[in-house]
Amino acid sequence: MKHTIEVMISEQDVQARIKELGEQITAYYQGSENLVMVGLLRGSFIFMADLARAIELPHEVDFMTASSYGNAMESSRDVRILKDLDDEIEGKDVLLVEDIIDTGNTLNKVREILALRNPNSIRICTLLDKPERREVAVDAEWIGFEIPDEFVVGVGIDYAQKYRHLPFIGKVVPQED
Ligand code: PRP
Ligand code: MN
Ligand code: MG
Repeated sequence: MKHTIEVMISEQDVQARIKELGEQITAYYQGSENLVMVGLLRGSFIFMADLARAIELPHEVDFMTASSYGNAMESSRDVRILKDLDDEIEGKDVLLVEDIIDTGNTLNKVREILALRNPNSIRICTLLDKPERREVAVDAEWIGFEIPDEFVVGVGIDYAQKYRHLPFIGKVVPQED
């Protein structure tokens, strides 16, 4: 599809918001001895790197990959773990870091799976939230921006694996030719 990218949220606004989230999260986890940031690959990698540097507390980082795919026979979505965490999370304060919550299926399932491992707590921070698209409830404690139901890219988010590197949130606009 021919398309152009329009800026929806500028780099400056993204960075300012990440700084604010970092301050709130830092205040919230004061005194936590074992905070671990868990990024969901691949989309979270840039937000994760920025947020980690905005959190002024000692913490570990770990990553996992969850794949969601539609099942043509059912309306429900299956979510599989393609790459699990490297370390145990028992007793830890887990901060799940996502680029975007869309239907909610990915985070809902990941939170459920991680909760079985007896962490001390699980909280969610997402850069973007598209509430109009929600199929299952997800309670995210920290949300960077609520956005309308538009196809977006940048700051880790892809369109057909491209545009993840863009430092702003862009909207994909189909183009006639
Ligand atoms: C995208 C996005 C979230 C998920 C949100 O990941 O990064 O992880 O979809 O969708 P949901 O709320 O409907 O589950 P994707 O599966 O495209 O993989 P990627 O992170 O590698 O781009
Ligand atoms: Mn993702
Ligand atoms: Mg993707």
